[in-house]
Amino acid sequence: MAAQAQIAPSILSADLAYMARDLETISGADLIHIDVMDGHFTGNLTFGVEMVRMCKRISNVPLDVHMMVTNPDETALWYADAGADYVTVHMEAATHLHRIIKNLQDRGVKAGVVLNPATPVCSLESIIEDVDMVLVMSVDPGFGGQSYIPGTDAKLRQLRALCAEHGVSPLIEVDGGVSAKNVRRVCAAGADVVVAGSAVFGAADPAAEIVTMRELGTQGIADRDA
Ligand code: DX5
Ligand code: ZN
Repeated sequence: MAAQAQIAPSILSADLAYMARDLETISGADLIHIDVMDGHFTGNLTFGVEMVRMCKRISNVPLDVHMMVTNPDETALWYADAGADYVTVHMEAATHLHRIIKNLQDRGVKAGVVLNPATPVCSLESIIEDVDMVLVMSVDPGFGGQSYIPGTDAKLRQLRALCAEHGVSPLIEVDGGVSAKNVRRVCAAGADVVVAGSAVFGAADPAAEIVTMRELGTQGIADRDA
């Protein structure tokens, strides 16, 4: 039987005034995606360690912290200590990427690297064997509600080929512009985990949307493995 697709709602699209309610609404998700933006790596400024601590306190869903910051070397471990289960840092921002990954894993969290849309898969060549997750951005980071960049499909296939070449299978996550309309195709191209902000929180029934997207994504994984 094919693996199940995992759905990671991004709380960037939740209602800040009702965060506890929204976290309860997505309690059936596989991961909670927390977009940390520092106002420098991205113009936008969002959440920090206190948000991670709060989510850990009131939700049992594993936390997936996506760090869009210029200084992950300095701050990645803060998020591990705040309760993250996964921490991903941008290839474009990390100075000593190997060291960050190792330090996170030593703290007991899963560690991953993120590629912006213009950063090629070949840049992973020397780190792919060390990471637990690769997050492929399908939009330029900064805001929810953007459109999926179509070239991401080809990038995902390249990434799966690179993993096969190295005999490793990190979780492959895709972030940006994914909805029930394209999730099957995105998973068929190579995603195991998809982030969905506006698609989940913009739905009339977010909990049902997670189930629908998971089913469609799982069909995509089956298409890929067929
Ligand atoms: C973009 C963020 C995404 C974003 C996804 O910088 O990393 O996680 O919230 O939002 P949607 O699903 O609305 O494209
Ligand atoms: Zn994200």
